[in-house]
Amino acid sequence: MAENDGNPARASRGRARVLVVEDDTAMSEMLREALSDGGYDVEVAGGGHAGVDRIRQGGIDLVVSDVKMPDLDGLDMLREIKAVEPAPHVITITAFGSIDTAIRAVKLGAFDYITKPFEVDQLLLSVGKALSERALRSEVARLRDEVERSYGFHNIIGRSPVMQGIFGMIRRLAGSSASVLITGDSGTGKELIARSLHFTSPRKNQPFVPINCAAIPDALLESELFGYKRGAFTDARTDRAGIFVEAGGGTIFLDEIAELSPALQAKLLRVLQDREIRPLGGSRSEKIDVRIIAATNRDLDARLENGTFREDLYYRLNVVHIHLPPLRERAEDILPLGEHFLTASAARAGKSIRALSPAVKKALLGYHWPGNVRELENVIERAVALAGGEIIEMDDLPGMVRERKRADNLGSALARGMTLEELEREYIERVVVAEGGNKTRAAQKVGLDRKTLYRKLEEYAARRQAGSRDESGEVTPPPEPTAGGAGASDDSDEEGEAAP
Ligand SMILES: Nc1ncnc2c1ncn2[C@@H]1O[C@H](COP(=O)(O)OP(=O)(O)OP(=O)(O)O)[C@@H](O)[C@H]1O
Ligand SMILES: [Mg+2]
Repeated sequence: MAENDGNPARASRGRARVLVVEDDTAMSEMLREALSDGGYDVEVAGGGHAGVDRIRQGGIDLVVSDVKMPDLDGLDMLREIKAVEPAPHVITITAFGSIDTAIRAVKLGAFDYITKPFEVDQLLLSVGKALSERALRSEVARLRDEVERSYGFHNIIGRSPVMQGIFGMIRRLAGSSASVLITGDSGTGKELIARSLHFTSPRKNQPFVPINCAAIPDALLESELFGYKRGAFTDARTDRAGIFVEAGGGTIFLDEIAELSPALQAKLLRVLQDREIRPLGGSRSEKIDVRIIAATNRDLDARLENGTFREDLYYRLNVVHIHLPPLRERAEDILPLGEHFLTASAARAGKSIRALSPAVKKALLGYHWPGNVRELENVIERAVALAGGEIIEMDDLPGMVRERKRADNLGSALARGMTLEELEREYIERVVVAEGGNKTRAAQKVGLDRKTLYRKLEEYAARRQAGSRDESGEVTPPPEPTAGGAGASDDSDEEGEAAP
């Protein structure tokens, strides 16, 4: 009976179970018979309290209840039923002419009401509607649950606006098979995002096949991707299907796409255009149905410019572009990620470690994370292995993370290719933040007079977005065109000039 034979009552699991709550025996017998004949399993409770008790035990899909019962008013009963998790739908039977009660019942969450006297068909129609609505709702919940649990967002941590934006993008792409290009430094989470794109897509029950274009020699990569026919080359003793065929209906994740040779770029482009492949040594093409997600930690723009990556292929792959910024540029994510890895590592190691010490948190936030999320994951895993107590302490961190060196910061500025002006701007803005927005103190710290600092901040703000103004509550003087830098102050009101 588990088949869905078109009766919504049997949609999800065998017969639906209906509880009739009715103190009038003649009426409850009539309902039992009508519902049994309608194909439902029926139980009867002789009063409101008994009904609620039975519902709490679980397994009831739908309640058909009289609104007037001596021991517990039908409306009070509705309130109690709706507090049960998960609450079954309720159809209320009201007396003729008591439309007010019916309205109140619906307001309290009854799915429907029927008025005495009623036809059996009318009852069955309402019961059918209630059950199919419920089945649909629980199916949606189940599917959502499954995706969330296995590949969903709860395993991808990101509190920063950038990551929130990426989550939104993944959700919007959920029904799509569009090609996606994911860029970002090593360890920023490109493969994780690729997997979640696959597992939230209609292709999720088909294979996800990752292939690292940099790790496989060219000749081999070609036969891996496209397959070959017997005799295509010396060692080809049998036919072999390529990944494009094996991943049929699924997703191929082409990692390190920038390393693809010009010859393979051309072949891949042809495959993406024609949606068919021809195995090595084969004479006939085969239709393919795969989605391509590509990733790289290289600067593809530079490769487009110098001609080492084909522009036409780039546009095929880059229908949707997701860029993962380095971890240090999304500091909001550092601690949530750290705590996520802490929970996972501690569970794996069978240790009861609860938290990161305040000093550790500060060190994690101050470090520049050249290896991004992967490095953070390793640092936490190591710390968990070393930790003696319930808290991760400074001693559990590697020296590099513990000692936040000046040289590291400059090294990261170098790596980011910052200009002196950008460096100055970042430094000044950070000091202002560190001083809680107090610009007088910030000016002293960085060695500028107050007016010059104001002017610079205004320039930064203007450059960032036209019209945006300082909202810290301090009065911002009009821009002063003459103030030319440290020491050039005509600021007469206080603290005078800063040290050069
Ligand atoms: N936002 C995140 N939430 C949770 N874990 C993450 C997140 N980002 C990355 N990770 C974890 O960090 C590790 C590195 O991620 P991943 O392998 O996806 O990076 P990648 O960008 O593909 O790196 P590479 O360029 O070196 O191949 C993985 O263990 C991954 O699960
Ligand atoms: Mg990767």
